[in-house]
Amino acid sequence: MLRSLVLGLGLSSAALACDGCTGTGDVEMIRRARLIQPRMQPDALPAINGPKGPLPWGQLTFAHTSDTHGWLMGHVKEENYGADWGDYVSFIRHMRYKARKLGVDFLVVDSGDLHDGAGLSDATAKLGGVNGEVSLPIFQNLDYDLLTIGNHELYVADVAYDVFENFAKFYRSRYLTSNVQIMDPKDGKFKYVGRTHKYFTTYFGVRIMAFGVLFDFTSNANNSKIIKAKDMVQQQWFLDAINTPEPVDLFLVLGHNSIRSSTSTFPVIREAIRKVRPDTPIQFFGGHSHTRDFKVYDNSSTALEPGRYCETLGWFAMSGIEAGTGKHKPAGVPNPNRPAINGTTSYLSYARRYIDWNRLSFEYHSDNVRTFDTPRGESVTDEIWDERHRLNLTNLYGCAPQTYCLSCAPQTSELSIYPLVQKALSAVIVNEERKDIPRMIFVNTGGFRFDLLKGPFTYDDSFIVAPFRNAFQYIPNVPYAAAAKLLDLLNNGAPQKRDMDRKHRSFIPRSVDACPLDGAQFNSGLVKRKTIIRRQQIVTPGYITKDDFGIDGDDTPHSSIPFFRTTNDIMAQGGFPADGSTPETVDVVFYDFIRNYVLTALAKAGENFTVADVEYYMPTTFTSNDFLPEYAKRFWSKDC
Ligand SMILES: *[C@@H]1O[C@H](CO)[C@@H](O)[C@H](O)[C@H]1NC(C)=O
Ligand SMILES: *[C@@H]1O[C@H](CO)[C@@H](O)[C@H](O)[C@H]1NC(C)=O
Ligand SMILES: *[C@@H]1O[C@H](CO)[C@@H](O)[C@H](O)[C@H]1NC(C)=O
Ligand SMILES: *[C@@H]1O[C@H](CO)[C@@H](O)[C@H](O)[C@H]1NC(C)=O
Ligand SMILES: *[C@@H]1O[C@H](CO)[C@@H](O)[C@H](O)[C@H]1NC(C)=O
Repeated sequence: MLRSLVLGLGLSSAALACDGCTGTGDVEMIRRARLIQPRMQPDALPAINGPKGPLPWGQLTFAHTSDTHGWLMGHVKEENYGADWGDYVSFIRHMRYKARKLGVDFLVVDSGDLHDGAGLSDATAKLGGVNGEVSLPIFQNLDYDLLTIGNHELYVADVAYDVFENFAKFYRSRYLTSNVQIMDPKDGKFKYVGRTHKYFTTYFGVRIMAFGVLFDFTSNANNSKIIKAKDMVQQQWFLDAINTPEPVDLFLVLGHNSIRSSTSTFPVIREAIRKVRPDTPIQFFGGHSHTRDFKVYDNSSTALEPGRYCETLGWFAMSGIEAGTGKHKPAGVPNPNRPAINGTTSYLSYARRYIDWNRLSFEYHSDNVRTFDTPRGESVTDEIWDERHRLNLTNLYGCAPQTYCLSCAPQTSELSIYPLVQKALSAVIVNEERKDIPRMIFVNTGGFRFDLLKGPFTYDDSFIVAPFRNAFQYIPNVPYAAAAKLLDLLNNGAPQKRDMDRKHRSFIPRSVDACPLDGAQFNSGLVKRKTIIRRQQIVTPGYITKDDFGIDGDDTPHSSIPFFRTTNDIMAQGGFPADGSTPETVDVVFYDFIRNYVLTALAKAGENFTVADVEYYMPTTFTSNDFLPEYAKRFWSKDC
C-alpha cells in the first residue's frame, strides 16, 4: 500500500533507492510517503518567518527546555510554534552530529514541569489514569543529558510516584533532584526521586559537577518532601560534592527555579559554591516563570531560562574553560563573544539564543532540509498523532470565529477572552430549577491559561484554555444591593493566590507559574494581527525578549504583542428582568475556589453568610473546564 502511495506521487522506484541514509529502504519509503502530508502534526501550520542567522557554538553548547507542560504536539494553530516533539527529536540528533563535527561538547537539558496544560498530559487523569502516563513515555524519546524535577510533578501523589517509579528510573543518573524526596511505599522510607548530583566528564574532557534544585515549593503532595535550599547547602552530601578532591571545571545547576524572581533559590546555591570555589564557572539553567530570560550573576556565572509550552528552545554557548580538548572557537559558525561582565579579565565568553519552536527554525539550523526527519523523530510524530486521536483530543466542539486572547487587549475589548467567558457563563451556567431567578456569576481570571484561538475548538483546547476543575457553587437570595458591590470588593481585595485547595481540585494551581513581572514576555499566543514587512522580510507578532545581554537574543525577529493586565475576577449575569428593573435578591454563583473570598467580600458589603449557606449550583461534575466546550457546542458552527 505504501508502495502504491509512493508510486502514485510519480516517484520512480529508482528514486526510492536508499543511498547514504541511516535506515533501510523501507524507512526511506515511509519517509517519502510522508511527504504527502506536512511533517509536524498533520494539522499544524508552517512558520512564516524564520531565524535571523546561524546559531552560536562554543566549547560547551546547550539546548534547554523547561515548562513543557504536555505540549508535545506543538501549537497546531500557531505558526510560530508548530513543531512537535518528533521534530525536536530529529533536530537534536542533527545538533549532536554537528557538535562532533565542530569539535565541541553539546548537552541537552530540561528544567521540569512536564504535567498540566495540554490534553496529551492531562486527559488521562480525567479518564481515571495518571496525568502524564501517555505524555512522559513520548517525552522520553529525547536522549536528555540532564534533567530535573518541577513543582507540577509534585502536586498529586500519584503523579509524584509515577515520576519516581518510571521517569526517574528511565533517565537514571541523569535525573537530578538534589532537594526532592518521595516516600517509597515499598518500605515507607523517604528517598530522593532521582540522584542528588552527578559528576561526569564530557566527551571533550570538561569535568562537571551537576545539581538539580527545585525552588522552596510547599504545596506538594504529602508523599513528597522538599528540602529548602538553605538547608540543602548545609547537608553533608552537598558539602562533600562541592569540596570534592576531584577536579571540577564547571558547576552546572539545573533547577525548576526562576532565574530572576525573589523566590529563586539559585543565589543561595551560588553563594554556597562560591564560598569554597570562588573562581570556578557556575552555569544555571532555570525555569518556572515561563519567560525567555538570561541573567548574569557574576563574572563566571550566568543563567538561562527558555520560556514555556514548547514555544521556545533555549540555546546557550560558552567558551574559555581551561580544560579538555574541545574547540573554543569552532570554525564556520558564530562563537560566544561576550564576557559575563564588561571589563572582567576572565577568559569566559557567552552567547544565548531563544529559538522559536517550529520546523522552519529546526530545518534552517540543521543545514540539511532534505533529510531532516530521522526515523525516530517520525515515529514520535506518528505516535503523538495516534494518541491525540485515541484520547479524542481532536474532537471538535465548534469553530471559534476569532482569536480571543488573555492579555493582548483590554479585558473589555471584543479581542479579549473575557467578554466571551461572560457570554458563555450567562448562557451555560443555568440551574434549571432556578433559571428565572436573576444570577450573578463570579469567576477568577487566573483559571484561564491560554488564548482561545480562531478555528477548531477541540477537547484538547478545553485543557489548554481552562484546565482546572472548579465546581460552581452559590448562595441563594442575596440582597441585590450587596451583590452589586461584590465585584469591586473582590477586585480590590487580596490577590487570590491559588493555595492548594485539594478537596475541590483534581489538578493544579493557576497563577503560581505566571510571571508577574514582564508582561511582554509572559504574553503568549500569537494574535492575528497585520504582519509587518520590513526590508523585504516578513515579521510576524511574537516574543521580543530583553535580558541582561540586551535585545538580540530572539532567534526569529518579531513585532511585539501588546500586554494588558486583568482584574482578579469577572462577573456575568443572567435571568435579570427584561424590563431593566433591579431585582430584590439574586443568586450569587461562583467557583468553589473563590468561595472564601466571596464570603469575606459579602461580609464587607454588610451581609454575613457562612459556609453553611453555600450550595452547589451545577452538578459537581460540570466545572470550569466544561462550560466553554458546552458553549461552543451550542453556539458555534461545526464547519471550520
Ligand atoms: C497523606 O495524606 C493522606 C490523606 O490525609 C493519608 O492517608 C496518608 O497516609 C498521608 N501520607 C503520608 C506519607 O503522610
Ligand atoms: C558591554 O559590552 C557590550 C559589547 O561591547 C555592549 O553592547 C554593552 O552595552 C556593554 N554593557 C554595559 C553594561 O556596559
Ligand atoms: C570576578 O569577580 C570577583 C568578585 O565578584 C573578583 O574577585 C574577581 O577578581 C573577578 N575575576 C575576574 C577574572 O575578573
Ligand atoms: C472517544 O470517543 C468515542 C466516541 O465518542 C468513545 O467511544 C471513546 O470511549 C472515547 N475515548 C476516550 C479515551 O475518551
Ligand atoms: C456580621 O458579623 C460581624 C462580625 O462577625 C458583626 O460585627 C456584624 O454585626 C455582623 N453583621 C450583621 C448584619 O449581622
